[in-house]
This record gives sequence, C-alpha cells and structure tokens, in this order.
Amino acid sequence: MNKIIINGGKRLSGEIKIIGAKNAALPILFSTLLTDESTKITNVPSLTDIDVAVEFLNFIGKKTIKIDNIVNTFQSKNNYKYIAPYDLVKKMRASILVIGPLLARLKKAFVSFPGGCSIGDRPIDMHIDAFKKMGAEIFIKNGYIEAFANDGLKGANINLKIQSVGVTENILLSSVLADGVTVITNASCEPEVEDLINVLNSMGAKIIRQKTKKIVINGVKKLNGFNHRLIPDRIEAATYIIASAITKGEIFVKNVIPNHLRIILEKLKKSGLYIEETENVIHAKWTNNLCPQNIKTEVYPGFPTDVQAQWMVLMSLVDGESFIEENIFENRFMHVAELKRLGANIYINGKVVKINGVTKFSGAQVMMSDIRAGAALVLAGLAAEGKTIISRVYHLDRGYYMFEENLQRLGADIMRI
Ligand code: EPU
Repeated sequence: MNKIIINGGKRLSGEIKIIGAKNAALPILFSTLLTDESTKITNVPSLTDIDVAVEFLNFIGKKTIKIDNIVNTFQSKNNYKYIAPYDLVKKMRASILVIGPLLARLKKAFVSFPGGCSIGDRPIDMHIDAFKKMGAEIFIKNGYIEAFANDGLKGANINLKIQSVGVTENILLSSVLADGVTVITNASCEPEVEDLINVLNSMGAKIIRQKTKKIVINGVKKLNGFNHRLIPDRIEAATYIIASAITKGEIFVKNVIPNHLRIILEKLKKSGLYIEETENVIHAKWTNNLCPQNIKTEVYPGFPTDVQAQWMVLMSLVDGESFIEENIFENRFMHVAELKRLGANIYINGKVVKINGVTKFSGAQVMMSDIRAGAALVLAGLAAEGKTIISRVYHLDRGYYMFEENLQRLGADIMRI
C-alpha cells in the first residue's frame, strides 16, 4: 500500500496551473452517451475517477480513449449495454449519472445501487423520484436500480427538496431528449452544472436557466457531437491557496476563474491573507496577522463542503476560536480525529465543530478517509514539525492531479513510497 511521507515546515511558494474540474468532467463524460457523433473533451485531469468513467463508457459501448489531458469518444450506434454492474459502480458514486442518458436513449437502465460512503449516507431517492416524475418505472431488485421508460421519458415539473448537484445533472442528462418541457426548480447553480449545460446546449439541446434556481429544458429529438474545454477546478485552486497560507508562503494560482472561488476568497481576505486577482490568476500571500473566521458549508455560491476539511487545517493553526458548520453531508468530519493526532484542538458537536487554534502541529501517522479529508491531511503534514506519514492515499488519486509533484515544485518535502 502506498504511503505519503512529508517532512513538514517548508514554506510553499511559486506558481501553479489549475487543471479542469473533476466534477465537471464526470457528467460531461456521461453526456457523450447522448450522441452517436464523436466528441472531444480537453483539459481533463488524469485521476482514477476519470479512468473509471472512461472504462465505464467503453463497457457500455461508447469507444472512448484518453491520451494525456484529452478524451475522445468515437462515432457509435445506439446499441449500448443497459447494465452498469456492481464492479464499476462501487468504484465511483458518480456512476449514478449513467441512468439519465441510458434511460433517454435506450428507455431502460439497470444500474447497481451505490453503497454508503465515508462522508455520509448519500441516498439516491431524489434521482429516483425525478425519473418517476418523467414517466419512468423504477424497481430496486438484487442490488440494482432497474429503470424502464417504455413510452420514452416525458417532460415534467420537478421541484428538488434539496439543491442537489447530481440530481440536477441527472435530470439534465435525461430531459434533453425527453418529449416536452421539463422545469427544474430549486436546481443547483454550481459552476460544474453550468459547464454541463453549456456542453448540452452546444450539442443542440435547448436549456435555459430562467432564474438562479430554475432551469427550463425543451426536449429535442437528437444531439450532435461537441468539442469542449473543461472549466478549472475551483476546489483544487482553493486547496493550493490554503497550502501556501498554512506554510507562510506566497502563491500564484493560474488558469482559474476567481469568481468561482468568490466566497472562499472573501473568507481568506477576512482572515487576513493578502489576495489579489486578475482575470484568471489569484495571487495569495501569508501575512502575520491571520485571524479566525467562522464558516458554514452551503450550496453554491456558499462555502463549498469540498473545502471544509482544508479550511479546518488553516483555522487550526490560527490563534483564536472559530466554528465550522457542515450543512451538506452528515458525516464529513472523519478528518477531525486524524488532525487531533497532529495536535489540533477541535471539538465536534453535531454538525458544528469548534476549533481552538494551536501554534504548531507535530508530525504523526494518519489515515485518509475521502478525497478532501486526504488533501487536508497533506496540508496539515506540510505545516507540521517533523515527519508525517499518511496512508490510504488512493483517495487523493481520485481528485488531485499530480498533487505531490505540484507541491514539490512549490518547495514541499513530500514523496510517495
Ligand atoms: N441527496 C439526497 N438524495 C439524493 C441525492 C442527494 O438526500 O437523491 C443529498 C445528499 O445526501 C447530500 C445533499 O443531497 O446531503 C447534496 O448532495 P449532492 O447530490 O449535491 O452531491 P453529489 O452530486 O453526490 C457532488 C460532488 C461532491 C460534492 C457535492 C456537493 C460530484 C461527482 N460530486 O456530489 O464532490 O461534495 O456535489 O457539492 O460532482 C468531492 O469532489 O470530493 C465530492 C464529494
């Protein structure tokens, strides 16, 4: 089993180029099933989740090749397999997004039921309810979601009880070819959802965001191929900015859309970090008057849950008391126990944690529990005195492209064994 070893205490400085967003790439990869024409996606990060999605498309019957940061899919006939087996789905929860395009094109989809996950129960009830509203029949049998839309999917009014990214995407991926008009209210506004809408419209779909949380989709009969460059990964960008801040460094984060990080940048400024932005560069510099700031995670444009763990590391090393409220996932504090091993002073009370800043961390052995908790432990190790050894590093490979190499270039003493 691989481990990451960090000799902490090195100041990180330099520049970093941000790659395309994993969470934009995944639904866009599944959107290729909606056309028989070829497609090209650029700026794609090399991550295990992307490899799983490519393997998935090939399994379903869409010839897909990834070379470096480009994914090409080739002309196909609509003779896909409609079964997504357990062995593929268990590797990645986002596989649930295959139901939308398969139902739209084949009128049926059998997809293994995704299991639990270390950040929460993550039910799929809203995906199922949405497909039912569009006329599908759904059965849960032998660990599979069996979905049928024998008469084709029909446009529907769908009000989401929670602003869910995945459900909004699955409805988009199915309603674009449905008969009639679909209206999603309380829809997600994340930039990754917007990127999917742009791709689908470039394929010939008719999607309009009528209000911030209201999307109207006029179904069309057929969609074309596309050529698309993914938006930059805002979570990756935030992770590097925090990495430089906790090591008293200075960083230029390039190829980024600063507006996608608005709330994070505002919070960092309020906590005393020097931030300067140009059109696609963020310059961040440590100052010696960092102070605590409370955050609560919310849907976009609120503070993202995917930066909560990294923020906790920063606040743990700032003098004073601060609070974090996690409102998206019910179990996303698995990193707390590990951060305590390094010396953090954190108390969990339901969905709120109270942090009392400490002057330093000291290296220890710790374990990753998910992608972002993993990134947070690496950041903590970079700031800690002495050696930190981190296990279960496969979590990191799902979400961070060339993480150790990039950190090394910024001056970190980090390696994988
Ligand atoms: N939810 C339900 N029922 C459903 C679907 C969702 O109750 O049918 C709940 C979830 O349990 C959660 C909330 O709704 O409490 C929001 O979940 P959402 O559906 O928005 O999350 P997701 O689509 O499964 C995506 C990202 C996550 C990110 C969340 C929130 C992808 C592939 N994943 O997940 O990314 O944390 O949105 O922004 O886009 C990560 O990259 O590390 C990651 C976990």
